[in-house]
Amino acid sequence: MQTTDKPRTYRVKSFGCQMNVYDGERMAEMLAEDGLSPAPEGEDADLVVLNTCHIREKAAEKVYSDIGRLKREDGSSPLIAVAGCVAQAEGEEIMARAPSVRMVVGPQAYHRLPAMVRDAADGRRSTDTDMPAETKFDALPARRKSGPTAFLTVQEGCDKFCTYCVVPYTRGAEASRPFADLVAEAERLVAGGAREITLLGQNVNAWTGEDAKGRGVGLEGLVAALAEMPDLARIRYTTSHPNDMTDALIAAHGEIAKLMPYLHLPVQSGSDRVLGAMNRSHTVDSYLALLDRFRAARPDIALSGDFIVGFPGETEAEFGETLKLVDAVGYAQAFSFKYSPRPGTPAATMDGQVPRQVMDERLQRLQAAINRDQLAFNQASTGRTCEVLVERRGKLPGQWLGKSPWLQSVFFEGEAAIGDIVTVELAEAGPNSLRGRLLERALV
Ligand code: SAH
Ligand code: SF4
Ligand code: F3S
Repeated sequence: MQTTDKPRTYRVKSFGCQMNVYDGERMAEMLAEDGLSPAPEGEDADLVVLNTCHIREKAAEKVYSDIGRLKREDGSSPLIAVAGCVAQAEGEEIMARAPSVRMVVGPQAYHRLPAMVRDAADGRRSTDTDMPAETKFDALPARRKSGPTAFLTVQEGCDKFCTYCVVPYTRGAEASRPFADLVAEAERLVAGGAREITLLGQNVNAWTGEDAKGRGVGLEGLVAALAEMPDLARIRYTTSHPNDMTDALIAAHGEIAKLMPYLHLPVQSGSDRVLGAMNRSHTVDSYLALLDRFRAARPDIALSGDFIVGFPGETEAEFGETLKLVDAVGYAQAFSFKYSPRPGTPAATMDGQVPRQVMDERLQRLQAAINRDQLAFNQASTGRTCEVLVERRGKLPGQWLGKSPWLQSVFFEGEAAIGDIVTVELAEAGPNSLRGRLLERALV
């Protein structure tokens, strides 16, 4: 049994989606509550948490190489915890293959991390990938500090079982956190400095709860309650599934000014046959009709999506339908991925796996189309005056970087501070950012 001194410093490295970023922040808060301090930049930490993502290939390989890189020159290693979705999916194997890993903890069990760290210091290795009935959230310390933008996980898990996807297995069934807990956490975030909150969920628009008056509400009810907080300026939510969209949430975009005009609604493919094989349970037409309803509620809404190219059996003509869909929508932003066979998912063993070169070539064409639309969207924004929430300093002296309501990165020069909401004229557009001219430093 190898005992170690109780670790004094920690580092949490999160990979993957924003929900992992949120979990990583909560783990860090717990470790701090337990008396550890964050390791200074560039210095070794006594405890390293690798908060992993399993969504696409090489996830596990990446974890093993990250573990290898943590080895110090004298051959010792920090205390290593593997958390997140790879931990959930391959925890036992990691424990067997990587002796320097002392803890494996799944996304629904990380409230037990501090106890596992104490065990690890006493020389015991432990794995916890349970999905306990009690919620981890009740065991986490209250939030204290926040930057100007904050994440708040409101819904977890997925019951959709798209045939390519690991999330239903790594995150478990869909569950909504209670309304009162979320309002309380949002209040703490705002008191700690947040001006913008992004509500998170694997299917965030599947969130349901009971509001303060005991009425059953959907996500729009939660958004409306948060919008009442005077110091909270902006609300966003992500990621939504087309099938969980409600009239009330669409209408909220026209009614609640603090709800930002941006919608991330993944579609994955422009072919109904491929969508069927993916078990997406929506069609191209139903997706487009949904976007039309959003545009009717909020004409300036910026649209975003996710795409997979090279799903098993995808033909050139079917891929062409995806390009057609991109043309039809004109996305402000979109994310595209090569299909990656995930162990244990139905698509991994489907006939017609698409060769890598074909996928590469399709991805390039799709990304060219998306980049063209992103640039066009940004160019169409020039001349507009809008509010920018300042998030950080830019690279040049006197330069600041923030986000427009449409989630564009905007940089500008002038007098401002992090957390300000300033009025800017959008002057010049690139594919990934815009240059703004500061008009007014409004301390709203
Ligand atoms: N719950 C969200 C997003 C889940 S994962 C949704 O349903 O939209 C984020 C994105 O990763 C997905 O939208 C999809 O485009 C991509 N993705 C998921 N599994 C994948 C796989 N096996 N191969 C390639 N991309 C994948
Ligand atoms: Fe994965 Fe589909 Fe669930 Fe999204 S909806 S998390 S893509 S199974
Ligand atoms: Fe990755 Fe898990 Fe998120 S697999 S995308 S970290 S839900």
